[in-house]
Amino acid sequence: ANARIGLVGLGVMGANLSLNIAENGFPVAVYNRTGAVTDAFIASAGALSERLVASKTYEELVAALPRPRAVIIMVKAGGPVDAVIEGLAPLMQEGDMIIDAGNADFHDTRRREAALKAQGLNFIGMGVSGGEEGARHGPSIMAGGNPSSYEAIREIIEAIAAKHQGQPCAAHFGPDGAGHFVKTVHNGIEYADMQMIAEVYGILRDGGTERERCAPAQIGHLFEQWNKGPLNSYLVEISGKVLQAFDPETDRPMVEMIVDKAGQKGTGRWTAIEAITLGQSPSAIEAAVAARAWSAAKETRRAGAELFGDLEAEPLPRPSEEVLERALLAAKIIAYDQGFKILSAASEHYDWGIDLASAAEVWREGCIIRSALLDDMASAIREGLPHDQLIFAPRFVEMLRDGAGALRQVVAYAASAGLPVPAFANALAYFDTMRQGRGTTDLIQAQRDFFGAHGFERVDGGAGQHGPWGGAAG
Ligand code: 6PG
Repeated sequence: ANARIGLVGLGVMGANLSLNIAENGFPVAVYNRTGAVTDAFIASAGALSERLVASKTYEELVAALPRPRAVIIMVKAGGPVDAVIEGLAPLMQEGDMIIDAGNADFHDTRRREAALKAQGLNFIGMGVSGGEEGARHGPSIMAGGNPSSYEAIREIIEAIAAKHQGQPCAAHFGPDGAGHFVKTVHNGIEYADMQMIAEVYGILRDGGTERERCAPAQIGHLFEQWNKGPLNSYLVEISGKVLQAFDPETDRPMVEMIVDKAGQKGTGRWTAIEAITLGQSPSAIEAAVAARAWSAAKETRRAGAELFGDLEAEPLPRPSEEVLERALLAAKIIAYDQGFKILSAASEHYDWGIDLASAAEVWREGCIIRSALLDDMASAIREGLPHDQLIFAPRFVEMLRDGAGALRQVVAYAASAGLPVPAFANALAYFDTMRQGRGTTDLIQAQRDFFGAHGFERVDGGAGQHGPWGGAAG
């Protein structure tokens, strides 16, 4: 054995992760389905190539590793992961482990973990966030699976992970799919964060009087300023940069040259699907998934613009930049509250024992949703969340009492101006529901009882009660 760990899949993420591992002093045996890619990778690795062991077959890869062997897979989620496992598993021995570092659906991770366990092998589902840069210089890492397997690779994982004040942004969250689920929710929150920033961009670009409308570079400059305040975060930072970039070919703002159809590979959707399955509804995240889906219907939207584009709106005055900033902060807190609630519900359902504060902690650096606010969130969760709600944590109560009015002003403005703000509006609807001691589902219950004799609970006690609906009720 001349390597410490193996890695399959030398795409951008896999290649960068290998270099990161090698740079931290651990020799890596690398394999790619196309051998030429492996050769080219090693040839381009410079001094680090000394710690890279080229493997042209799975047999060579496995032979390069000490026992218990650990092989990271970094290939496209879905079928390709199963194909690699099928090739590797028969060559491995009791106690060896396979680590899937892709964005897997945690249900797949649970299935794979169970299947490999039956063969005496360990399977670690490990979410890795931070894009190419993160993979190369320090991602945020969310692992699941057998804790003793994680212990065996912990030294490597903590060495390559991003650091927050010296603490590695890597943790083990629980058995089987726990790590991939934490990564999935990270991505769901990522979708909401991105969407809410885009909603602000839309209001500044399309809202207000002719004179008030902002060019992308102006909005980018504003985001750059916001990044120095409480909204300090990677996504606000890069949005500022993106909006200030120009297309070298046309000299026009780069964003204006990009077709407004958003892609998605599934993680945001999985967050919403799993939440709904568990009886939750993370409205800001769902809205962000919806906004991407709606955006895909470009031709339909063009036709809609012909039919309805000139519908008169009577816009309120456009909120100031300061109001927009506070609204974004408030909406973000609500979206994160929803994300943490899903983590908590899933953890209970699957018996994972996820430490929510630890999730907030590993998200403080390295990952796409890293932000100053996550440090506050981690502390708030450690202090204990009243009713499991981040929005009820004392420090966030203060922020929301201050920001909710701004959020309301922005949503009201957007509705009056005919500008879609699905994530903002849905975050606000959730917040307003949570601050309403008595809502309107008494009527829903009565309707259900009327047409289906479903029964209701009386305010003065007694479940399974029925109303005086006469013959229509069962
Ligand atoms: C990260 C990102 C990363 C990737 C997502 C994007 O945490 O580093 O989330 O995992 O960019 O797959 O997802 P969509 O393609 O669905 O936007």
